[in-house]
Amino acid sequence: MSLKFHSVLVQSVKPLTEDSAEFTLALPEDLHDVFGYEAGQYLTIKQEIEGQEIRRSYSLCSAPYEKTWKIGIKRVNAGIFSNYALDHLRAGDRLEVMPPMGNFRITPDKSRKSHTVLFAAGSGITPVLSIAKTLLMEEPLSTVTLFYGNKGFSSIMFLEDLEALKNQYITRFRLVHVLSRESQGIPLQKGRIDAEKLDRLFKAFLAQEPINDVYVCGPEAMILSVKNFFEARGLERNQIHFELFHSGLADSKNLEEKIIEGVTCEVHLVLDEDAITFEMTREDENLLAAAQRAGADVPFACKGGVCCTCKAKILEGTAEMRVNYALEPEEINQGYVLTCQAIPTSSKITVSFDE
Ligand SMILES: Cc1cc2nc3c(=O)[nH]c(=O)nc-3n(C[C@H](O)[C@H](O)[C@H](O)COP(=O)(O)OP(=O)(O)OC[C@H]3O[C@@H](n4cnc5c(N)ncnc54)[C@H](O)[C@@H]3O)c2cc1C
Ligand code: FES
Repeated sequence: MSLKFHSVLVQSVKPLTEDSAEFTLALPEDLHDVFGYEAGQYLTIKQEIEGQEIRRSYSLCSAPYEKTWKIGIKRVNAGIFSNYALDHLRAGDRLEVMPPMGNFRITPDKSRKSHTVLFAAGSGITPVLSIAKTLLMEEPLSTVTLFYGNKGFSSIMFLEDLEALKNQYITRFRLVHVLSRESQGIPLQKGRIDAEKLDRLFKAFLAQEPINDVYVCGPEAMILSVKNFFEARGLERNQIHFELFHSGLADSKNLEEKIIEGVTCEVHLVLDEDAITFEMTREDENLLAAAQRAGADVPFACKGGVCCTCKAKILEGTAEMRVNYALEPEEINQGYVLTCQAIPTSSKITVSFDE
């Protein structure tokens, strides 16, 4: 996997709603393999805005079989990159883009007959749309149900694409809009997707059918409700997949007592087949910050434990993460950490970004 940024041309910009747009990226032929992706994965974009280097992640809303690279960006109030993109980014501009990554993804299987339930809210539709399109196109026997939460009809991103998908796959794709501030004439479809609404939606739409997988992308509260709801109905943890775009770090772990008082940690860092060694002190917030201070050009984006751009493997020693919204339990068992959240708990550690 390449962790380098590439200069990529913005081919076109298509407004979706008043505060969102779809950006199509034109990738030259020689980058098609490097930028190969699975439905649900995201790109990391680097851009200098008013003298500051900004990095943000955006999920691909296109599907791999379409052989295009599209992202959908929604304006965040006072947000640096989303406002820049929507107000200034135009066709012909260039962006620095890192190849796709991320664990929120599907690998379709033509012979599979499954029922996948998708939940999205607001801009959380982007990876979910990619997953829905891919499953419907590449798994001819499978069915998909999508619950999509928004304030009102005018704020629904990709409304036309979703309607087209519904018409194309009339017997295999069920789309249920849930609007918090607008009535569709059906009380069940008014409100937010919370625990109570989930119960009612389940009884109305899902109770009769087996569910193979659940994918959810939206605010933290919705993800938690969906996860708890389906776990309580017997789904295994590995059948419930989620992507969080932003976290308030509400459940940040207090690791103070685990950090060895007064002791510095010797960090041996492997990146791009090169290695550096440096001392990390208690003043360094985490492994990523310490590596940056030591001059390493380490990959990162959110610095909040929600993407996995800063993922690396601990080869020797131990570390704990303050929060983790991105790594799967198996990856943690294999020794991977989000370096932007990891604090060494041993006095010596070897960490590799190349694994
Ligand atoms: C894996 C991943 C995939 C993503 N995919 C998409 C996507 O497809 N489309 C998309 O529009 N965004 C997506 N995001 C979110 C995106 O990366 C940015 O966080 C978002 O665009 C805000 O960036 P900003 O620079 O405008 O705001 P910032 O300048 O970073 O933030 C401004 C303020 O808004 C708060 N904030 C930041 N993000 C959010 C948010 N999402 N909701 C509420 N408050 C927020 C911040 O805490 C801050 O107070 C994704 C994030 C991740 C981690
Ligand atoms: S940079 Fe996003 S999880 Fe570390």
